[in-house]
Amino acid sequence: MDYQKLFDISGKIILITGGGGTLGTAICKGLAAVGAKIAVADQNLESAHKTCDLIREYGTECLPVQVDVTDPESVKAMVDQVLEKFGRIDVLLNHAGINIRKPAVEYTPEEWEKVLTVNLSGIFHCAQAVGKVMLKQGSGRIINTASTLASISQPLQAVYASSKGGIVQLTKVLAEEWAPYGVNVNAIGPGYFETDLTRKYLSDPAVRDTLLTKIPMKRFGQPEELIGTIIFLSSEASTYVTGHTIYIDGGRLLY
Ligand SMILES: NC(=O)c1ccc[n+]([C@@H]2O[C@H](COP(=O)([O-])OP(=O)(O)OC[C@H]3O[C@@H](n4cnc5c(N)ncnc54)[C@H](O)[C@@H]3O)[C@@H](O)[C@H]2O)c1
Repeated sequence: MDYQKLFDISGKIILITGGGGTLGTAICKGLAAVGAKIAVADQNLESAHKTCDLIREYGTECLPVQVDVTDPESVKAMVDQVLEKFGRIDVLLNHAGINIRKPAVEYTPEEWEKVLTVNLSGIFHCAQAVGKVMLKQGSGRIINTASTLASISQPLQAVYASSKGGIVQLTKVLAEEWAPYGVNVNAIGPGYFETDLTRKYLSDPAVRDTLLTKIPMKRFGQPEELIGTIIFLSSEASTYVTGHTIYIDGGRLLY
């Protein structure tokens, strides 16, 4: 084993959904900086293009792709485009996600469905389509973005927490099914990071203070702090790691 290259992911082909979002863009910049080639897929094509413009500053290749992860046909078209450009997919970052925060009694059936469909069904459609490619390749890494809310509860988060809990379970089943074929499936569980998804919620001083008292490090995460774990899970350093969720949460789950 070449220990110098344990975390070397230069040249790897990484497909990220939700790559035009706040955390997605930060992740893409970090991965580009260490030499990965990246397909940035997002429902918002303009934001995917913007992320690609940033990535190209690192001298690496990037492909912006429009996708709606809730639509299996759109997901298949995304995979075809990535294969046409790069010929293989080494890592799938299943990262697109949404949230609607409300008291449980106030959700409409449509709102419940919407969050579950993007966050859980979307992850499944992408994992299935890319999984087929990786099973043929005999290698691949899938990293699903869950949340600390997969493990703990919080008011106003009934559907989001349910979707993220589902991701942790889906990760385990896919990991077991695909382990014999060289495909590792893991998840990351971020705590609170200030992004478009959370900015309004975290701007309420009462919410901020309540959340911060429950984080041993007494601060929210910076998007760049996700990258080390993603590089680990994408690299030779984690060949024997599958089915797990790694929480990146300033110690939130310790309480
Ligand atoms: N921000 C946090 O504190 C936090 C904490 C835990 C987990 N997460 C997770 O991280 C991921 C990204 O969150 P973020 O804070 O960067 O949010 P964000 O809103 O900035 O980014 C989400 C991205 O997903 C895209 N997207 C939404 N629906 C889509 C669909 N149907 N098809 C394709 N793309 C779609 C959006 O266009 C957007 O670019 C989400 O899965 C979220 O649940 C975030």
